[in-house]
Amino acid sequence: MSADSYPLASGPAEAAPPQPRISDLARPRGAPAASGYLEGLNPEQRRAVETLDGPVLVLAGAGTGKTRVLTTRLAHILATGRARPWELLAVTFTNKAAREMRERIGHLIGPEAEGLRWLGTFHSVAAQILRRHCELVGLKSSFTILDTDDQERLLKQLIEAEGIDPKRWSARHLAGLIDHWKNRGWTPDKLPPVEGESFANGRGGRSTAFTRSGCGR
Ligand SMILES: Nc1ncnc2c1ncn2[C@@H]1O[C@H](COP(=O)(O)OP(=O)(O)OP(=O)(O)O)[C@@H](O)[C@H]1O
Ligand SMILES: [Mg+2]
Repeated sequence: MSADSYPLASGPAEAAPPQPRISDLARPRGAPAASGYLEGLNPEQRRAVETLDGPVLVLAGAGTGKTRVLTTRLAHILATGRARPWELLAVTFTNKAAREMRERIGHLIGPEAEGLRWLGTFHSVAAQILRRHCELVGLKSSFTILDTDDQERLLKQLIEAEGIDPKRWSARHLAGLIDHWKNRGWTPDKLPPVEGESFANGRGGRSTAFTRSGCGR
């Protein structure tokens, strides 16, 4: 089985420890192979790193070692054989933070860090999951993600195709409404009538613009 074919772990690694493979059995398990990475931690950090069962919340000020805790905790989970790199999910807000995490874990555990395929921003991890399981939401794996400008350009064309006056009902306005509807999980068939009425006397909610924006799926 290739790394590609491993599904994203469906629950915390602690809840369902991975079954060892033959190649894993050859590796020392249990005690960390090299626990030197634990030595640079203060007692609170160390406690957070070594608490592997159940959730851990780390609240600390700027520059006080939160990322060090996170990266060392991931390294510790890997070094103790609790999970394999592709079974860990680590999300960040920014690309910069994701790069920093990957780089810092790389310093701790070496090339194994490259296997952390589920380390990334919310957006990139979600896009990967969607790409992989696209058929579950009626998409093709070749689906494209439009940026704000492209969204507006497309909506403008669709508004014009619907015969709606684009000066009165702007693409930006419709984009905002669609975003609002999607955030509530309202597909065109589930859109409350009063909401649908809010654009071009109901033609926004019924329009192909809404359906084709991906909401119809
Ligand atoms: N226990 C420690 N002993 C010595 N240095 C430490 C310790 N913990 C963290 N550091 C160092 O302090 C600096 C800041 O750590 P880190 O980046 O992990 O903090 P942070 O809380 O994530 O910061 P930010 O708020 O900027 O995200 C780094 O250089 C890190 O190596
Ligand atoms: Mg940080």
